[in-house]
Amino acid sequence: MTGGHDIAVVPGDGIGQEVTPAAVEVLEALDLPLSFVERAAGDHVLESRGTALPDGTRETVERADATLFGAAGETAADVILPLRRAVDSFANVRPARAYPGVDALKPETDLVFVRENTEGVYAGIESEIAEGVTTCTRVVTEAASRRIAEFGFDYAEERGYDVTVAHKSNVMRVTDGQFLDAVRAVGDARGAEYDEALMDALAMHLVLRPEEYGVVICPNLAGDMLSDLAAGLVGGLGLLPSANVGSENALFEPVHGSAPDIAGQGVANPSAMVLSAALLLDHLDYPAEADRVREAVEGVLADGPRTPDLGGEASTEDVTSAVVERL
Ligand code: NAI
Ligand code: MG
Repeated sequence: MTGGHDIAVVPGDGIGQEVTPAAVEVLEALDLPLSFVERAAGDHVLESRGTALPDGTRETVERADATLFGAAGETAADVILPLRRAVDSFANVRPARAYPGVDALKPETDLVFVRENTEGVYAGIESEIAEGVTTCTRVVTEAASRRIAEFGFDYAEERGYDVTVAHKSNVMRVTDGQFLDAVRAVGDARGAEYDEALMDALAMHLVLRPEEYGVVICPNLAGDMLSDLAAGLVGGLGLLPSANVGSENALFEPVHGSAPDIAGQGVANPSAMVLSAALLLDHLDYPAEADRVREAVEGVLADGPRTPDLGGEASTEDVTSAVVERL
């Protein structure tokens, strides 16, 4: 579509097939110049085509301005890792917020993890150097550390969050020393205020006093773990969206998987997926529409209808219609 944005839609498996159409329905209700192209990936494709991620799907995601991804099942690693690479995503953004009306361990939580998404111990350099002896090489570059720092400080400044840098440079002096130095250089050059926290102690503080934190800039593994910890504070997987941001395009997905235990029943909570669509709107520079979607989801979470994971009896469709009505 000329002058608009092309969105690749990859529902995947299980409840991905149920919550992804819900997010598309919400986006369509906004009357923006968005055009959607649906492509297949996941377990069901492996059976029929011999690969979980057909080239055509990857190429569509590469070319699109943004992608909505649902979830894959057993083939998740074969699907989502190449797709994150296809959008060259250097930043993984994971907001973890508690909502009124949802039973949360810590109702004051409003955190955003900005996680380096390309290196650290997830660089994939592992070996068995002798029988029974294995190693993993941790990669931390100044360039990637500065890039995630710039992104994190921008994100926090635009949205009025405090910044904390998670690290363990007292032990990993060279690699996390590099990470911390790079984040400091970026923060100091901008005159930004920020705190530094050892990641193990930070895990404890996040559980005890999450309200004291905002944006947390993290190395890769720390971001993976701390964001899951925060998910536990706010009331479950059905609520957590995420963004994989690259320099040109980006991919948006709920944190949850294909949920085979409830798939096909029409009762999956669409909130995480719809909130991922709101992050997509932020990314495409529709901040007002993104806020409208978030407010609609928050209204429905507060007043119902609610899906069974939140103690209600409503279907995915009931919740989606209620969100669309509020828009
Ligand atoms: P999961 O997130 O699919 O489910 C964990 C639990 O949370 C289940 O009880 C499920 O019913 C519930 N749940 C998740 N999302 C929900 C929603 N929107 N509404 C209501 N309840 C929800 O994680 P699990 O069970 O560890 O993995 C299931 C499959 O998903 C596996 O095959 C795994 O490989 C895949 N997976 C895929 C991911 C991806 O595509 N990014 C991420 C995580 C898992
Ligand atoms: Mg994880």
